[in-house]
Amino acid sequence: MVRHLVSIMDMKNCLEEIIDFAIDIKTNPSKYKDSMDSCSLGMIFEKSSTRTRVSFEVAMTQLGGHALFLSPKDLQIGRGETIADTARVLSRYLDCIMYRAFDYKNVEELALHSEIPVINGLDNREHPCQIVADLMTVKERFTNLKGLKMVYVGDGNNVCHSLLLGGAMQGMNVVANCPKNYHPWKEIVDKATMLAEETGGSVKIIEDPLEACIDADVIYTDVWVSMGDEKEEEEREAAFMKYQVNEKLVEVASNDCIVLHCLPAHRGMEITDEVIDGKHSAAWDQAENRMHAQKAIILDLYKNE
Ligand code: CP
Repeated sequence: MVRHLVSIMDMKNCLEEIIDFAIDIKTNPSKYKDSMDSCSLGMIFEKSSTRTRVSFEVAMTQLGGHALFLSPKDLQIGRGETIADTARVLSRYLDCIMYRAFDYKNVEELALHSEIPVINGLDNREHPCQIVADLMTVKERFTNLKGLKMVYVGDGNNVCHSLLLGGAMQGMNVVANCPKNYHPWKEIVDKATMLAEETGGSVKIIEDPLEACIDADVIYTDVWVSMGDEKEEEEREAAFMKYQVNEKLVEVASNDCIVLHCLPAHRGMEITDEVIDGKHSAAWDQAENRMHAQKAIILDLYKNE
């Protein structure tokens, strides 16, 4: 049966294996160089991208395959062809589809009608590929994920959602440090809490940044104004001003804590130059790991089709 990565929940039973696989691919790239020989990945982007687009495209090239950039304004989807029909047709040409969408329901719809794996490249609910690379980066630094304290500081957005779920799956103690009115979705928090009960991890929401970051092993942040939220820029900046990841927050974390940012960063807003360029930052390894993680995801979905 065809498998998809629409939510990080789709990796509930194999997330650790995928993370280890990504680390192996990074360590031994030549072992995998022809794994997707003559295969094609279609990439539909409704929103801008640097990391997701380039890492998927280079990943496919390095695996011996090919990636096609598909903009909805060039596809017939932009002129009313249904997502279901697009899925049916693309399934006849391609081996895998990556879709970055505004609305998660459209990713679900594409997957529902696709005969080949569909990978969510970010939607308004989740960013599962990002979280595979994030947890890979944490594992490279700390060897084990279980029991680590990971604090997400900022907007309770798609990245926060996948991080809560993925971290809970790995038995981590995950804290969402978000201001009132910007908490993660309740259904996600409930699901992550249930996962944490199974794995021995925990999930908390703490509104005060200094309290949340005490003894953190990982501090993670993301933009305050996500793509699609531009109209709310002023009110968001006011709400998040106290949630900047700066030296004060890093000082209360554990001595060997790492700081992650999924990027792009708005320096001086959600993170300071001192922190993102400082000794605790693992943001550049994290960005590199997107490519190794994409390879692991593609190969896992493809080989287990
Ligand atoms: N983090 C991330 O998804 O980056 P892009 O928006 O540049 O793809």
